[in-house]
Amino acid sequence: MSGGPSTPVDILPGQPPVGEHGALSCGKELAFSAKAEERLQKLLTRYPTKQAALLPTLWIAQEEWGWISREAVDYVAARLGLTSAFVWGVVTFYTMYNRAPVGKHLIQVCTSISCHLNGAEEVFHECRKKLGGLKPGETSADGKYTVVEVECLAQCDKAPAVMVNGDDHERITLDKLDAFLAELR
Ligand code: FES
Repeated sequence: MSGGPSTPVDILPGQPPVGEHGALSCGKELAFSAKAEERLQKLLTRYPTKQAALLPTLWIAQEEWGWISREAVDYVAARLGLTSAFVWGVVTFYTMYNRAPVGKHLIQVCTSISCHLNGAEEVFHECRKKLGGLKPGETSADGKYTVVEVECLAQCDKAPAVMVNGDDHERITLDKLDAFLAELR
């Protein structure tokens, strides 16, 4: 997944303050847990350079903290001997990295051409409406749902395609939306 907007597309009310280099700040000093550290050390043995391990290291960071904050960017950069600017450039290129806190269920609705032609815009709109009138990228008050629009999820033959927490869901039409959302509850 790359090239499109990441989460969230806009800075929304209630989100953390913007820190240096444009990333939102979590306001905390971060360090990997023992388990994440173990994963990192294992990972580093499999790549020729630390830079080559950047994407999976960011993934560990996201699983550890839920999203990639300014502090997470700085931490990963320091651990891999890279500049924060370089790491932030990578974070902003790939849609799989959350650039703000997200809900328990991150619902990513593809609106690229195949999905667009099969009603993805309506699905995106209705999905947010049914979850309390959420803005794109906004998280519901109960912290359960964040709905974002993304570029192609490589499920074009199953449009409209939706991804929830990394799992693909196919042909999510307006007719299926209630059942789809009920499954997430
Ligand atoms: S256009 Fe939506 S998955 Fe490819």
